[in-house]
Order: sequence, then structure tokens, then C-alpha cells
Amino acid sequence: MLRIGMLTSGGDCQALNAAMRGVVKGLCSKRDDVEIYGFQDGYKGLIYSNFKMLTSRDFSGILTVGGTILGTSRQPFKQMRVPGPDGVDKVEAMKHTYHKLNLDCLVVLGGNGTHKTANMLKEEGLNVITLPKTIDNDLWGTDMTFGFQSAVDIATDTIDRIHTTATSHSRVFIVEIMGHKVGWVALHAGIAGGADIILLPEIPYDIKSVVNAIETRAKIGKRFTIIAVAEGAITKEDAALPKKKYKEKLANRKHPSVAYELAEEISKYTDQEVRVAIPGHTQRGGTPCAYDRVLSTRLGAAAAELILNQEYGYMIGIKNGTTVKVPLSEVAGKLKMVDPEADIIKEARLTGISFGNE
Ligand code: F6P
Repeated sequence: MLRIGMLTSGGDCQALNAAMRGVVKGLCSKRDDVEIYGFQDGYKGLIYSNFKMLTSRDFSGILTVGGTILGTSRQPFKQMRVPGPDGVDKVEAMKHTYHKLNLDCLVVLGGNGTHKTANMLKEEGLNVITLPKTIDNDLWGTDMTFGFQSAVDIATDTIDRIHTTATSHSRVFIVEIMGHKVGWVALHAGIAGGADIILLPEIPYDIKSVVNAIETRAKIGKRFTIIAVAEGAITKEDAALPKKKYKEKLANRKHPSVAYELAEEISKYTDQEVRVAIPGHTQRGGTPCAYDRVLSTRLGAAAAELILNQEYGYMIGIKNGTTVKVPLSEVAGKLKMVDPEADIIKEARLTGISFGNE
């Protein structure tokens, strides 16, 4: 008997179901004695032994379905060793569930925080295999995470739609795109949607430079300006603050998010009308795009192969089109950020896009 535990953890994204389907199909094509324990709502299900037994049938027909059939929740890594109000020792509880069910392997689908916990469980002696999910595309060790391309498509669609109304009214539009720590989605959707200014956490901006880009466009007769701003975009002054001070500043900020703050700042320096559009969680919703279906199916199947070979302690990633196994210890705790000096930034600048720091 091959006993597999499975959970999805952290913010959801498209293709979580497709990835789990890939794992299960891969295992069941080689073995007919697979037992699958699906833990409910991420690590919470493992802690409280809340699971359902699933068969390969449960993974049929879910390739195109968004969200996760297992449910998910955020369980911060920092809190994992801190007993909750119920006094439960979470790490011991997770180990207990794993051993009680006599699992051969735990398959974890998650992003950055999830990988820290997955690595800790590996260090605690559990057999763990992970898959890189997140719209943010910020996991170290893989060129691409599933969910990213689907989110880029949705954010691009938002920018596309804003173009017509921005032109009609001759307005400045700020489209706020997900990504608190990294700007991958904003960068790609911004380029794909033809944004005029892209603001990323990795490239601190100067409001004067942003306004200058807007005014320059107006002077040459452009009727609108579209700004794609990542949630975590930051001014040069704020980037110079000690982290703690900046966090305090954020906690006390007047506006709900960066787009509104930016709108107020821009309005101080220009007469143009400014509007904000925020696609928010629509970027994580709905059916995965074709690219993500292929990627997640491949990663899932590659994970199944490792499990069948009894190779544990890895995340399956993709590098130059090839699926690769990356030791969890190398993935945990590292962020893959946009490199301000990367070709994609230089090429975007060449087409006239401003990053607000010129
Ligand atoms: O990590 C994925 C992500 O969608 C980020 O881009 C975004 O900042 C965050 O999650 C939103 O988190 P929540 O769904 O908990 O509001």
C-alpha cells in the first residue's frame, strides 16, 4: 500500500486542482494500491487530523476548476512553534497525524511560507514533496510557479478594458496588481497590457518621475496614462527607512492601499483626473489558463515519479523547460525577486515604459 497525504496551503491560485490531479494520475498509472488522505484547509488539517480519504475518481474532472478541492488557509511559519490558544503543539501534532496514518509521503502545494514549514517537517523526519504554487511567481528554485500566468492574463484583461474608458475620458488610471513583496505579475501584465508606467517593489519610485512621465505623454497629445502598480510598490524615501519604521508607517497609512495613495500624490501635481481600478482577488480566481494547466500537470506527474522512486525532500520546479527536483532546504526562506537590471526591464524601458525612477 502507498499512503499519500496531500494539502494545499497559503493563498489559493489557479491550477492547484490540476497539479493534484497530475500527482494522483501519475501515481495511479503505476500503482493500483494508492491511498490518498486529503487534509482540509492546509496545515490546519494536518495539525487537527482533519482529512478525507480520496480516490482517483475525486481528481477526475478538476483540471479546469479553480480554487482547491481541499480548501486552504494561511498558517504563518513563525507561529508554527508557538502553541495556539488551545495549547496544541502544532509541529508535534502534524508529526503525530502523519505517523498515525502511516503515511509514506506528504505532498504539499504552496508558496513561500508553506515551503518553510515543509522544510521544517522534512527536518523533523517526514517524507515531503512540494509543488510551487502562487500567482506571485516568487518561489526560488523554479522559473515559473503555477497560477502566475493565469493571474497575468486576468490583470492584463483589466488593463485592456481600462484603456478604452481611460481614452474616452482622458484620465490617468492606476491599476493595482497583486504582489506585496515582488512585482512579477505587475511587470508582465503591465507590459502585456501596454501600461505606460509600471511600479514595482523592486524598483523604488520617485513621485516626480511618475508625474513627469504623465505630463510628457499629455504634451505629445496622448489622452490618457495607465499606471500598473504592484501592491508593494514603494517610494525611494520609504525604501530608505528602516524596515520597522516603514511597517509602522504602513500600519498608519490613510489610504487602504498604494493605488489610492499614489492617486492622491499625483493629483497634487497635475490637473488630470485620476481614477483607481483594483482587480484584487479576481486575479486568483476562475479557471487556469492553458499554460498553467500544462505546467501543473507536468509538475504533478514529476512529483509522482519522485514518490514512486522514494525520493523525498524536494520541490519540483521547472528550469529552461525541464522539470527539476530542488532540495527543500535550498527553497525555504528565499524569495525570487524581479532583477531591476534584467533584460525584460531594459527592453520595457526601450519601448517607452517608465518605472518611475528615471
Ligand atoms: O501570495 C499571493 C497573494 O495573492 C499576494 O499577491 C497578495 O498580496 C496576497 O496573496 C493577498 O492575500 P490574502 O488572500 O490573504 O488577502
